[in-house]
Amino acid sequence: MKLLITGSNGLLGQKIVDLCLAKQIEFLATSSGANRNSKCPEQVYEVLDITDEEHIQTVLGQYQPTHVIHTAAMTNVDQCELHPEACDLVNRQAVLMLAKCCQKQGIHFQLLSTDFVFDGLAGPYAETDQPNPLSVYARSKVEGENIVRQLEGLSYSIVRTIIVYGRGEQLSRSNLIIWAKEALEKGEPLQIVDDQFRAPTWVNDLAWACVRICELGQTGVFHIAGPETLSIYQIVERVAAYYQLSMLPVSKLSSSTLKQPAKRPPHTGFILDKAREVLGYEPHTLEQTFALL
Ligand SMILES: NC(=O)c1ccc[n+]([C@@H]2O[C@H](COP(=O)([O-])OP(=O)(O)OC[C@H]3O[C@@H](n4cnc5c(N)ncnc54)[C@H](OP(=O)(O)O)[C@@H]3O)[C@@H](O)[C@H]2O)c1
Repeated sequence: MKLLITGSNGLLGQKIVDLCLAKQIEFLATSSGANRNSKCPEQVYEVLDITDEEHIQTVLGQYQPTHVIHTAAMTNVDQCELHPEACDLVNRQAVLMLAKCCQKQGIHFQLLSTDFVFDGLAGPYAETDQPNPLSVYARSKVEGENIVRQLEGLSYSIVRTIIVYGRGEQLSRSNLIIWAKEALEKGEPLQIVDDQFRAPTWVNDLAWACVRICELGQTGVFHIAGPETLSIYQIVERVAAYYQLSMLPVSKLSSSTLKQPAKRPPHTGFILDKAREVLGYEPHTLEQTFALL
């Protein structure tokens, strides 16, 4: 197995790189800009802008991976809503370029996707449930999924996940658990939504599942998330309880009062039966991961 990872500077990309190093899996890490994972040797890092079709062809042609794990994306949901053309370029057109190249070269293509493909009216969701995206970001991910499904002869997997958290180096954005811990430590007033339900996913569990799918030669859609679906408020409560921080400055907020550009699905969460049965996936509890953060 020879992996090419896109978005290796991102939270998930960094963890896949770390896992490849630990498991001695041959890989090439790629991302836009300089390498920001100090564990990733420069010899196995290459700058690759996933919107540059010519460069994609050159890099894939030269490296000849067996699998591409495509983590790179425009991931800020509100930015996608405000800049739909940029979102379309990175989350749809780039998927088409990469997947077509993989199709031509017989490379397995793994696409990272999201719980936001669903409308959140009937969570938790199974892989067979029907997407109904509510935002520009969510639609771009559904379109990416449809591209890989429709390319004839392409070997593909789609890994959908939910609120990914963990630590990484010089990340371009924070994540819920790390943000909540830091905000609670400051003791400043916080307003947290209590009507959006998610299953927070430890990035190490997700990275394990992505690589496992490749190792087992699996194809198709996989739902990979944490074991519990909680409201965002409940998640923050669990952070506070574990680190013995006060919830007194935290008040509940309804999503309707939050004027966010992009609509969010109210209640997602995933049914993990397929991942458990096919991959042997057993996600850590929040508290187990807090001890390792
Ligand atoms: N994080 C979540 O809660 C979550 C939930 C559901 C699904 N997902 C999906 O899971 C995947 C990984 O998420 P993540 O949390 O690791 O995201 P992330 O930390 O935002 O990382 C995404 C990476 O993609 C890179 N990137 C963006 N545009 C690029 C381009 N044109 N060329 C090359 N690289 C580019 C970014 O580079 P810079 O760092 O230089 O900006 C960043 O390192 C994404 O596909 C996301 O949609 C994430």
